[in-house]
Amino acid sequence: MRALVLLLLAGILLAQAPPAPAPAPKAVGTMSELMIDVVYPTSNAVFYIFREPPKNQVDWDNFKTQALTLAESANLLMMPSRARDQDKWMADAKLLWDVGNKAYRAAQAKNLEAILALNDELNTACVQCHMDYRQAYGRRPTGAKQQK
Ligand code: HEC
Repeated sequence: MRALVLLLLAGILLAQAPPAPAPAPKAVGTMSELMIDVVYPTSNAVFYIFREPPKNQVDWDNFKTQALTLAESANLLMMPSRARDQDKWMADAKLLWDVGNKAYRAAQAKNLEAILALNDELNTACVQCHMDYRQAYGRRPTGAKQQK
């Protein structure tokens, strides 16, 4: 009987507790970590697919994982805590979304030619945002040796 009363009381207390706020998306990696550990390796899988083209289903499945991760990384770049603004940044990230989406669809179709054809578009997606937002990117201090 006592246990039952306690149980009921506990139930009432729980029912009255203010609802915990729902979890919101929260970045795990810094921008640099996201670039180095997600965007860079997955885009390399697309850039250099010609070196070792997928030969079997396992290869294609692995490539699909890379392509979808690359495409979805564009959404991670658009997260409120990562987006530098709601205008050019979003447009630049959308370039990556578009080409990543095409790479993933081509991977599903096992269309190697279509993936090879995405090289320039992918390169542009990286360079565009880096020119706009990566500090000192593409700018060399005067007098410095031009790097390759
Ligand atoms: C929407 C913007 C955006 C896109 C698209 C983008 N990047 Fe970046 N990237 C950045 C920013 C901003 C930095 C600088 C991060 C920092 O130093 O905090 C960066 C830095 C990097 C770095 C250097 C990281 C370091 O700390 O050394 C690499 C490598 C990189 N990006 C690769 C890529 C590649 C490859 C692509 C295309 C497949 C790409 N990025 C597309 C915004 C972008």
